[in-house]
Amino acid sequence: MRLQGRRAVVTGAGGVIGAAIARAFVAEGARLCLVDVRAEAAEREQAGLGAAAFVHVADLRAPAAAEAVVEAARGALGGIDILVNNAGLYPNTPLLEMPDEEWDRVIDTNLNGPFRLARAAARAMVAQGGGGVIVNMVSGAADSARPGSVHYSASKAALASVTRSLAIELGRHGIRAVSVSPGLTLGSEVSPLSEEYTRALIAGNPLGRAARPEDTAAAVVFACSDEAAFISGSVIKVDGGGSAGRASLPLSTPRG
Ligand SMILES: NC(=O)c1ccc[n+]([C@@H]2O[C@H](COP(=O)([O-])OP(=O)(O)OC[C@H]3O[C@@H](n4cnc5c(N)ncnc54)[C@H](O)[C@@H]3O)[C@@H](O)[C@H]2O)c1
Repeated sequence: MRLQGRRAVVTGAGGVIGAAIARAFVAEGARLCLVDVRAEAAEREQAGLGAAAFVHVADLRAPAAAEAVVEAARGALGGIDILVNNAGLYPNTPLLEMPDEEWDRVIDTNLNGPFRLARAAARAMVAQGGGGVIVNMVSGAADSARPGSVHYSASKAALASVTRSLAIELGRHGIRAVSVSPGLTLGSEVSPLSEEYTRALIAGNPLGRAARPEDTAAAVVFACSDEAAFISGSVIKVDGGGSAGRASLPLSTPRG
C-alpha cells in the first residue's frame, strides 16, 4: 500500500477523473476528504468508499472555501499530507464571442481556487512539521492552444506555473508539487465533449484511444507516493503520446 495512512484532499471528486483518483487512493491505504460543489455526485462516490472517505461540499471559487476545506480535513483526518487540485471546468466558446463572465468563471475555478487551496494546504503542512505533496491537474491545452479554449488554456498554463512556484518555495519544507496532464478523458457530466472533437483527438493519438480515468489516477498515486520522492515541479503527461507530435500526418516524401 503506497499511501498507507496518508491524509488526502481530492477536489472535483464527484467527476470522472477525481472519482478514479479517490478509488485508487483508498485502495492504496489513504484516508480522504472528497470535495465537490455537486453534493450528490460526491456522496455517490463516497458511498462506494465507506469510512475511508468523507464529503465536504464547497464551491472552490469562493475565497473563503480553501480555509474551510483544510479545516474540515484537519478536523476529520487529523492533518493533511496530500492535496489533489483536480476540480476544473472546460467550456468552449470562440474568442470573438467570449463573455467576461465565462473567462472569469474558468479562471476562478481552474486557477484562483487551486492557488488558494494550495496555499492553505501548504500552510497546514508546514504547521504540522513539513512534508506533503500537492498535485495540480493541468492539460495538454496548457502548451497547445485549441479553438474556443482561450480561458481554459490560459488557466492550465498558469496552473502549471503555480506548480513550479510551489516546488521551489516549498521544497525546503519537504513539500513536493507535481502537475499531472491527462489526455482526452470521456464521461464528464459537467463539461461534455462533442463527438467531432473526440473523434479528431483520438485520430491524432498514437495509441488510438482516449485516456481511461484509471490511467491518470495511477499517475497521481505514483506522484504522491515515496517512489516519486525526487520528482517536483514537473509535468507528468498521461496522454498516450497525444502531445508528442502529429501522429495523423502522412509521410512527407512521395512514395512509389
Ligand atoms: N476530461 C478530459 O479530457 C481532461 C483532459 C485534460 C485535463 N482535464 C482536467 O482534469 C480535471 C478533471 O476533469 P474531469 O474530466 O474529471 O471533469 P468532470 O467535469 O467530470 O469533473 C470535474 C469536477 O469538478 C467539480 N467542480 C467544478 N467546479 C467546481 C467548483 N467551483 N468547486 C468545486 N468543485 C467543482 C465538478 O462538479 C465535477 O465533479 C479537470 O481539472 C480538467 O480540466 C480533463
